[in-house]
Amino acid sequence: MSDRYTPDQILGHSDEADGIEEYDNRLPRWWVGLFLFCIAWSPAYAIHYHIVAERSQAGDYDAEMAAAAEKWPQISAEDAANMEITADVLAEGEAIYTTNCVACHAADMTGGIGPNLVDDEWIHGSTKAEITSTITNGVTEKGMPPWGPVLGPEKVAKVAAFVHSKNGT
Ligand code: HEC
Repeated sequence: MSDRYTPDQILGHSDEADGIEEYDNRLPRWWVGLFLFCIAWSPAYAIHYHIVAERSQAGDYDAEMAAAAEKWPQISAEDAANMEITADVLAEGEAIYTTNCVACHAADMTGGIGPNLVDDEWIHGSTKAEITSTITNGVTEKGMPPWGPVLGPEKVAKVAAFVHSKNGT
């Protein structure tokens, strides 16, 4: 077979391929070598990854989440509810409000897309627990997003304390 191989011969079907000519040359040795190397490498790598090093994407994810939980500790919903409301907490709550809530409830909190938060009419209740619950879970069907997953219990508690402090003002 190798004696019949002559490189750079045009196959001659350009009329079927919009005038594109084709050779049938052998692949370069370096390319075939790379191909065979990959075939040999993949089982070795797979065995190392899954069995020797026991790595997995789920494991990597869990490790990253554990490291993040240590670096940025989240307080529990219960601790958040019992948080002492200081002037600092209210100031942080106001900052969270300014970043996330102004678009729908307005900077002066008199409402727009979302309802007024400084009058004494409440759709979902005016206690701190009720406000916390509304902010955490949202009212998706009315266009209030759930903030629990976005902000976490600590920030929700702070912004809820801020909103609550403005009740009826
Ligand atoms: C995309 C617009 C939008 C954003 C952003 C938004 N809200 Fe709302 N919010 C609404 C709407 C709409 C309602 C009314 C829900 C209903 O009618 O039941 C609402 C309702 C509320 C209520 C209940 C009011 C009541 O009368 O019971 C509170 C409290 C509240 N939002 C707080 C917040 C806070 C705090 C943020 C920021 C973290 C925020 N909202 C961000 C649209 C929004």
